[in-house]
Amino acid sequence: MGKRALITGITGQDGAYLSNLLLNKGYEVYGAVRRTSSINTGRLSELGILENINIVTMDLSEITNIQRVIEKIEPDEIYNLAAQSFVQTSFDQPIYTSEIDAIGVSRILEVIRTMGGKSKFYQASTSEMFGKVQDSPQNEKTAFYPRSPYGVSKLYGHWMTVNYREAWNIHACSGILFNHESPLRGIEFVTRKISLGVAEIAKGKKEVISLGNLNAERDWGFAGDYVEAMWLMLQQKSPKDFIIATGETHSVRHFAEKAFSVIDVDIEWDSNDDVELGKCKKSGKALIKVNKEYNRPAETDHLLGDATLAKNEIGWEPKINFNALVEMMVKKDLLRVEQGPVWF
Ligand code: NAP
Ligand code: GDD
Repeated sequence: MGKRALITGITGQDGAYLSNLLLNKGYEVYGAVRRTSSINTGRLSELGILENINIVTMDLSEITNIQRVIEKIEPDEIYNLAAQSFVQTSFDQPIYTSEIDAIGVSRILEVIRTMGGKSKFYQASTSEMFGKVQDSPQNEKTAFYPRSPYGVSKLYGHWMTVNYREAWNIHACSGILFNHESPLRGIEFVTRKISLGVAEIAKGKKEVISLGNLNAERDWGFAGDYVEAMWLMLQQKSPKDFIIATGETHSVRHFAEKAFSVIDVDIEWDSNDDVELGKCKKSGKALIKVNKEYNRPAETDHLLGDATLAKNEIGWEPKINFNALVEMMVKKDLLRVEQGPVWF
């Protein structure tokens, strides 16, 4: 019989890609879903895998349901992907974010420990823990300096994972993943906001995309590549933490230029007035407008990851590069805008 995996956050971007990967490897996949008033399994449906997943109800805020679910399933592997994952929201909901992204991790680890530590555990850590970066590129030895309640909460989850490994000998790993995107990315994140905006402009359904800090730099990879790293980490004899990144960084400004180039529009920037604009070179029409409301109270200005250790020790490397990623996202959104409502 195949292995059993429990994935929290299965309705999110990574949950969908990871489920697909594990099903293809013959796993029995259990997906933890929190109770909501409407169905939000659309990503799993889009990949055509919803029917193959055993959906269980579980919220990270409540230890009793975590215990019941883990006792019932007895998973070989637990992937903790559930989180309040939007950095901007974490400034307005810092307590809730800590409750899920920090204490939620302790709840799962504590259940694993009291059950004898049999399930392997993967924690979805993040490059946002580097925040105000102390060194560049960032690797496993770089000091953390989180810049958001989200980053601070995730750092707690990260250290708890390390601590349960060292104190209780649990096979627990923390994957420090840099930003990863895809056509299944939530529309509030900047890459998808841009790809969808470009598609809507191309189809005459939108005039302008409003963005915040255009100069922020991120190391953007493809989510489909990154879930492979999660799985690889749990297949190693000894648990260890790894940086997962492409080793390339690009600004939001560059991402936007690249996305417009997919629909053959060249952007030129005009910062003569108070408001910076990205204009179509040919027509002069404003297509991007900077709106300071999207700026964060504290920003992570620059992220660039060094995934050499993952390459050498677990044989992981990204397959999709920056240009291919942008093109994939814009082309998928062009189809969606053409064919019908975009639900996520
Ligand atoms: P995502 O699309 O926002 O998905 C987050 C998932 O967590 C959703 O399934 C959500 O359920 C679930 N969730 C939120 N609160 C919950 C709660 N209280 N109880 C149970 N489930 C809850 O995020 P993602 O991009 O797939 O990222 C997956 C994980 O990796 C997250 O932990 C994120 O912080 C981390 N991460 C992401 C990146 C990245 O660039 N994508 C990089 C580093 C780390 P609903 O559908 O009900 O909202
Ligand atoms: N969301 C958003 N919307 N971001 C904008 C906008 C905008 O209109 N304009 C500029 N940005 C800038 C943000 O200020 C930030 O510097 C950058 O674009 C990326 O923002 P997001 O796409 O929201 O991602 P993030 O880097 O804050 O967080 C994502 O990556 C982390 C890993 O580093 C999330 O997926 C986190 O969950 C993840 O841990």
